[in-house]
Amino acid sequence: MNRQFLLAARPRGWVKESDFSYQETAIPVCDSGQILVRTKYISLDPSMRGQMENRADYAAPLNLGDVMRASGIAQVVESEHPDFAMGDLVLGSFGMQDYKRLDPQALGVRKFAPGEDPLAAISVYGGTGMTAYFGLLELGQPRQGQTVVVSGAAGATGIIAAQIAKLKGCTVIGLAGSDLKCAFLQELGLDGTINYKTENVGEKLTELCPSGIDVYFDNVGGEILDLCLARLAMNARVVICGGISRYNLEGPIPGPKNYFNLVYRRARMEGFIVVDYVDRFEEATDQLRQWVDDGSIQYQTYVVDGFENLPSALIGMFKGENLGKTLVACDP
Ligand SMILES: NC(=O)c1ccc[n+]([C@@H]2O[C@H](COP(=O)([O-])OP(=O)(O)OC[C@H]3O[C@@H](n4cnc5c(N)ncnc54)[C@H](OP(=O)(O)O)[C@@H]3O)[C@@H](O)[C@H]2O)c1
Repeated sequence: MNRQFLLAARPRGWVKESDFSYQETAIPVCDSGQILVRTKYISLDPSMRGQMENRADYAAPLNLGDVMRASGIAQVVESEHPDFAMGDLVLGSFGMQDYKRLDPQALGVRKFAPGEDPLAAISVYGGTGMTAYFGLLELGQPRQGQTVVVSGAAGATGIIAAQIAKLKGCTVIGLAGSDLKCAFLQELGLDGTINYKTENVGEKLTELCPSGIDVYFDNVGGEILDLCLARLAMNARVVICGGISRYNLEGPIPGPKNYFNLVYRRARMEGFIVVDYVDRFEEATDQLRQWVDDGSIQYQTYVVDGFENLPSALIGMFKGENLGKTLVACDP
């Protein structure tokens, strides 16, 4: 049978298990030019929250009753396509389900090269690594000796962005939600960490960034964004990658109070969506691969076992249970 999780209700406030429904359907059969894949790992991303609520305006709307959209790693189990054979491992958007029948060209499926580590691919050379790479380097433009602050630093994107900033010769400060995550970031070589749940973030930022913040890579928005805006260096760059602190809020969302410091500091705040850079993914992949291969960049996965745990793993990611890229392994 093909196990599937569907969108049952548009979430209000925190995502809940009851926002998903579970069903089992027949395994599809593929037609000429198609492949049938069996999902092995499903990637969980904060953007799923916006798609469930139908407000991720850069992605096609998800309707009630649709299979939850998700990228993942899958194995070809049947092929009617000349470029794919049974057993090939592929990366693509297969949804929260065991099986998907698809036209690999239409859906931009990528086949792994022999020996390629699929978990590295999805953590570094997939959307996560691309987001960190282009967000930090294109918008943040970090320069040797400058101070870079990364929020959500122990998450999938933050870990990569923080390490790229170190490679560029910056002083890097990471914010995360537990002492364990902060210790991990220190082991990665960050110059300072802040546990935003237990420490006074404003005081620590002032102490750790005595010349101000040159680049703030923002994954979270909210109060942390405001505290960073208040501490910008001259000509600073604020990269709006995400705003996870707002994704599960109900009602009006407070705006940043300290935005006018952009004027005083002649600074820039800019958002982006990673797909804007799709034409340059190959260039980023080559560079990231070189950094991973020579040991300059480490990646980290947080793997939850069991297809049935997809909803709870997504909820857990919003609560900060993950360290690194969240994946669900569909079957042992
Ligand atoms: N612009 C783009 O194209 C693009 C592409 C991909 C992702 N993103 C964004 O990048 C951000 C990170 O995504 P990801 O996939 O790498 O997820 P992730 O960081 O691996 O997971 C989310 C993390 O957010 C932290 N968090 C949750 N609520 C928070 C809050 N109120 N304040 C501070 N931190 C909070 C949690 O860690 P703690 O324990 O530290 O709280 C959690 O582990 C998200 O905002 C996402 O929307 C943007």
